[in-house]
Amino acid sequence: MEQDTFEKDLNAIFFKHKGIHFEADLTSPEVIDAIEHMEIRDSDVFLVTYPKSGTIWTQQILSLIFNEGHRNGTEQIENINRVPWIEYNINNMDFKSRPSPRLFTTHLPYYLMPRDLRFRTGKMIYVSRNPKDVLVSFYHFYKIKPNIKCTISWEAFIELFLSGKVLGGSWFDHVIGWDTHKEDFNILFVTYEEMIKDLRSAVKKICKFVAINLDEEAIDTVVEKATFKNMKHDPVANYKFISNDVLDQSKGNFLRKGIVGDWKNHMTVAQSEMFDKVYKEKMRDLPIKFLRDLNE
Ligand code: A3P
Repeated sequence: MEQDTFEKDLNAIFFKHKGIHFEADLTSPEVIDAIEHMEIRDSDVFLVTYPKSGTIWTQQILSLIFNEGHRNGTEQIENINRVPWIEYNINNMDFKSRPSPRLFTTHLPYYLMPRDLRFRTGKMIYVSRNPKDVLVSFYHFYKIKPNIKCTISWEAFIELFLSGKVLGGSWFDHVIGWDTHKEDFNILFVTYEEMIKDLRSAVKKICKFVAINLDEEAIDTVVEKATFKNMKHDPVANYKFISNDVLDQSKGNFLRKGIVGDWKNHMTVAQSEMFDKVYKEKMRDLPIKFLRDLNE
């Protein structure tokens, strides 16, 4: 019941298009459909994530890898403009006039991506995160979205998440879709957890994939500027520049905790077991290597 009311309220601010919920204030079905025809350059790099999986973190890493001006602080551009969203082009950028190599961000499922990417032009980096932590992060994120006026209990939000009625659609569909179509794209998979465990190695892995050769000192700078602590205070990286109408950060920060396993502070044993059951059911056809230990 509570979930129904919440869902009804959400329907007023989101729209569903081709299976995915989008923010009605920030994009439209026409914009989403036009993405299919976006012209791709071989040097383009797309960061792909399901929401709350470490997107802005990887935006920061990518922009630092690619741009010396971002590393040495001579170019003060917000990460949202360094690695813009294709489906939420809120600053109306002309993507065609952007110099190569262009960096983009998206939460789109594989089937809504620019068609040219299917010919393995361009590069894609897919970042995933333990869905239990995604769920927690999402729950807190909804609280700082001023257009979501209604409230929902944690319990009901878990149901909503598991049924995919949240921004970006179902976590399961997103991850499974990208994994099962990986052969169609030139794609590197990275996890939030591996970035937490060893950020330097993750940065090097990304550098190798995008064929950028940075010396050890430059790698140090990327790692340093991409730590949670530093990003939280970095005005171009912390999303504080986003207006209060879009994110009310007086109620909580976009860069909230930045840890692995916060779900343990939120989920009861019963909730966790229920989640595991759904996870096992939905993910059963995925290759073992993709399955993570949910309860690590
Ligand atoms: P939490 O809410 O768990 O803290 P996205 O950018 O995809 O929306 O993901 C947001 C999540 O990534 C938030 O998780 C945020 O704190 C975390 N995050 C952002 N930058 C980070 C960093 N440098 N290190 C670790 N986590 C980071």
